[in-house]
Amino acid sequence: MKSPAGPVLLAFAGIALLLAGCATTPGGGSSAANFEQARAVLEAGCVHCHGSERLAGMPSFASTRDLAALTGPGRLIVPGAPEQSRFFQVVTLSDSDIGAMPPTGHALAPREVGVLKAWIAGGAELPEQDLALRPQGRSPRSR
Ligand code: HEC
Repeated sequence: MKSPAGPVLLAFAGIALLLAGCATTPGGGSSAANFEQARAVLEAGCVHCHGSERLAGMPSFASTRDLAALTGPGRLIVPGAPEQSRFFQVVTLSDSDIGAMPPTGHALAPREVGVLKAWIAGGAELPEQDLALRPQGRSPRSR
């Protein structure tokens, strides 16, 4: 028997699951919570340069769809394997190394590095709907 309430109930169940995930896993664990934390790090430290107005050839972090296109075996973001992910390697390089991100003199705080690591280690999950990432605060370049 078909019930018109089905999709609505499903949506509620989804939201409840999401909220439960955020509430029960401070500091990571749930993939939804991991991504939200990673998003905050990217918006504060990367999207200024890797957004819609980036230079040609630079990877785009402007949306979750763009992030998805960078994700997979052999790509910049290798789900479950931060050490093999160029995306993660570059934030662990020291400032004097070429390719360190954000570029020279603007290293992420250890906590932020940990957030990106946890997100990738947990499978680099992304939300189902496409979300825009917008730069927050001043660009690392001008701090
Ligand atoms: C001040 C501008 C700026 C910021 C901020 C910045 N990047 Fe970049 N990024 C660049 C430029 C320019 C390039 C292309 C040149 C290069 O590879 O050095 C690049 C390239 C990259 C690449 C590709 C490099 C490769 O070796 O394949 C990755 C991955 C990357 N950035 C990740 C990040 C991450 C993660 C952050 C935030 C923690 C970040 N970037 C913040 C400017 C920036």
